[in-house]
Amino acid sequence: MDTFLRDEDLWALSITVKGRCNCSCSYCHFYSHRDRKEFSIDSSDELYDNYLKLINEIKGNLHKNIQVRFSEGEPLVLGNKIFELSNKMYEITGIEPYVLTNGRLLNKDIIEKSKKNHISAFLVSIENPFDEADGAPKTKEVLKLIKELDSEEVRVLPAIMIIKNNMFKNLLNIADYVYNEIGLLPSFAELTYQAYESPTDEELGELYTNIMIKHL
Ligand SMILES: C[S@@+](CC[C@H](N)C(=O)[O-])C[C@H]1O[C@@H](n2cnc3c(N)ncnc32)[C@H](O)[C@@H]1O
Repeated sequence: MDTFLRDEDLWALSITVKGRCNCSCSYCHFYSHRDRKEFSIDSSDELYDNYLKLINEIKGNLHKNIQVRFSEGEPLVLGNKIFELSNKMYEITGIEPYVLTNGRLLNKDIIEKSKKNHISAFLVSIENPFDEADGAPKTKEVLKLIKELDSEEVRVLPAIMIIKNNMFKNLLNIADYVYNEIGLLPSFAELTYQAYESPTDEELGELYTNIMIKHL
């Protein structure tokens, strides 16, 4: 069967491995309109096994270049179970997944265990340092952690930073701040899903100025 993908394209799959989270970021789309205490969609072992079958199906019949990430609530809340999942993923599909995390539970021990248990990397979400959300980890601490734990063997890298419309005007300052701390930049993202708000004309102008200025 054909897809619209070219051989060199990457098909990135995201798997919900843990419904609960140890943060309570005010803007989180995963919990918007849901009660954090009531809402838990941890994947069952049976569902996980079905994901693995699906991945092999895709790899065998549709597209070979596949990347898998563990995400949703907070994967590291799984404790050591995350290594059972990564090992099983590797045994059955040959893929070493990476983990999208808020970083709160990330430490040296987890990195050491990841080396032996086929986790390829940790992508750590980062708060806008000039607009830290209630309930989220502090930007400075997360950047420090990334700097301490990143290694060739298991990369620990900055992931998504939410930039709200009223912060478009600070985009360059935000980028400078992160780059000065760790020498890398995160991916900047707008709020999505129910949290999305249309920028005003003024905010769009500020976005344009902040992005275009470096091309002049
Ligand atoms: C929902 S979290 C789950 C994984 C993990 N707990 C983490 O913090 O990375 C995944 C990513 O979604 C982003 N996110 C949360 N709410 C969002 C929203 N309303 N719009 C866009 N991205 C959002 C977070 O910033 C985070 O980088």
